[in-house]
Order: sequence, then structure tokens, then C-alpha cells
Amino acid sequence: MIHNEVLDCIRSRRSTRQFKEEQIKEEELEALLEAAVWAPSGSNSQSWLFTAVQNQETLAKLNGLVKEGFQRWVPDDDYPGKLGVKASAQKEGWNFFHHAPTLIIASNRPNYENAMADCALALENLFLAANSLGLGSCYINQLHWLRHDPEVREFLFELGIPKEHTICSSAAVGYIAKESVVPPRKEGTVRIIK
Ligand SMILES: Cc1cc2nc3c(=O)[nH]c(=O)nc-3n(C[C@H](O)[C@H](O)[C@H](O)COP(=O)(O)O)c2cc1C
Repeated sequence: MIHNEVLDCIRSRRSTRQFKEEQIKEEELEALLEAAVWAPSGSNSQSWLFTAVQNQETLAKLNGLVKEGFQRWVPDDDYPGKLGVKASAQKEGWNFFHHAPTLIIASNRPNYENAMADCALALENLFLAANSLGLGSCYINQLHWLRHDPEVREFLFELGIPKEHTICSSAAVGYIAKESVVPPRKEGTVRIIK
């Protein structure tokens, strides 16, 4: 097995789901956003928008709107876990970004087939950068699922995310309160043809 800083950072990155309340430093946020925008993008579009939300009242309001949105929401496919999240969203204390102090929302222009791919690559850059700085991070899907919910979209519009943008994903970021267990990687998902 080859070891270097990048490969070890890739191996040790985990999805964090328990964060400290303490906010991350300004320069840490800047480094994460910079890592995101250095990702590749189709035809060098760079049409993404990364909106970092650190205001706790705003985050609490957004969590409330997502909770309400899930009551109206009907999953449109059989993605595992969607129905489970819809149910658990109604529980007391549920928080879709695991109470992280920072949520970075990745959106992209409409009618662009690489919108998700570009944002996903950017978020992986951001996750690895977070790991390299000793921060925890987690991919958060719920805003993508509720991207057509009128009340969630109105609030995101108030935060400056254009109405026509598609909401691709988001990233929860903060200091790690509890390390996540390492989910083993499945066998047989890689082939080499020589
Ligand atoms: C497309 C995608 C959506 C995900 N959505 C969520 C989510 O909404 N909430 C969450 O806690 N984790 C989410 N995750 C994180 C995965 O659960 C996690 O990557 C997986 O369990 C493997 O764990 P690891 O990241 O620690 O290696 C998502 C990951 C991906 C790639």
C-alpha cells in the first residue's frame, strides 16, 4: 500500500455525524471554499455556487423548514433511506445537518447535465480539505431531495441562492465531537483489465 499525505487523507476521511458547537475559524472556512472551487468542472463551467451558512438562527430556521417540507414530500424513487428520513425528520431534536455549526450549500445552474457531477467533485475536495485540517464533514442530501419544495426554495432564495438554480447537495462542517466508525469497503467493486 502506498502512503503519502493525499492518499492517507483520502483513506482517513470519514462522514462525521457528531459535531462540537464551536464554530470553525474564518481561515478554515476560506480554505474549504477554495478547495471546492479548484475542483474540475465540465467544460470548465464553474457555474456552481457554494453558500456557506454559519448563522445559527438561519440554520435553525432552515432545519424547521426542512422538517415541514418532509411532511409534504413524496419520494419519487426507491433510493434506500428516503422513507426512513421522512419519518425520522418528525422526531424531536432531528437535525438534517447533524447540528454542525457550518452548512455549505452547493447549487448549480439549471439545464446543465454536469451540475451534480461538478458539485460532487467540489464537495469531495472540500471534505478532503476538511480532513486535512482536522475538521469533520458530511455530505448532506436533504436539500437536494427538497429542491422543489416552495417554502424551502423561498428561504434559500432569501439567502441568495437563485430560484432557477438546482440544489445539488450540501456539506456539514465543524469540529469533531465523536469519531465515526470506519465502514469497511466492499470487495469486488474494482477490476483491472490488462
Ligand atoms: C450522494 C451521497 C449522499 C449522502 N447523503 C447523506 C446524508 O444525507 N446524511 C448523512 O449523514 N450522510 C450522507 N452521506 C454519507 C454516506 O452515508 C457515507 O459516505 C457512507 O456511509 C460511507 O461513510 P464514510 O463517508 O465515512 O466513508 C451521503 C453520501 C453520498 C455520497
